[in-house]
Amino acid sequence: MRPGSTPLGVDGDTAGAEGLNRLTDAVAAILDTGGDVDVVTARIAAAMADELQRPDLLPLFTGRRKSFAAYVDPLRHFIVHCSVHGPGHLTEAHDHGEAWAVYGVLRGSSRYRRFRRSDDVAPGTATLVCERDDELVPGQTDVVAPGYVHLIGNETDEPAWNVVVRPRPIEEVWRRRYDLDSGAYVIHPGSLPDGVEAPSA
Ligand SMILES: [Fe+2]
Repeated sequence: MRPGSTPLGVDGDTAGAEGLNRLTDAVAAILDTGGDVDVVTARIAAAMADELQRPDLLPLFTGRRKSFAAYVDPLRHFIVHCSVHGPGHLTEAHDHGEAWAVYGVLRGSSRYRRFRRSDDVAPGTATLVCERDDELVPGQTDVVAPGYVHLIGNETDEPAWNVVVRPRPIEEVWRRRYDLDSGAYVIHPGSLPDGVEAPSA
């Protein structure tokens, strides 16, 4: 691991460090090389896919029942987030504002549904076009580009372990959530500073 990096294991636990270090080193190198968002996210997805096909990230998740941040890069602010989704879990449809995200499946399988937004049909009401609706298995990834909408579900009877790389922690990302039936969207309350209420759609 690079000097100054910040592993966030369980109480300093180093389980999974080998895989995490390899992934974070790869992401850091990709970000330092730079490029447009399509190039950067494609490279990160490839590095993640490579890591997901090894067993070295599995110990990170062992014993975990909730999602957690595994690593925050102190220089670049990218984050590796580990998602633990129990049977029946379904996220709301949401975007990540101007931030990209690269997702991948480590264990189990997960439904990945991704939507492209076209022109709003009314203020606060988007038109969503489904571009991906797949059951992803270990080793497979999904890139959510800035402004795109997606959801993730676990339709199986087993826990699903997913890995996410974001350019910065989600709490720092301005984002929206969507009603899939109407297309209506609102700012995610978690995006707002304390004491600020989300405007109604
Ligand atoms: Fe997301």
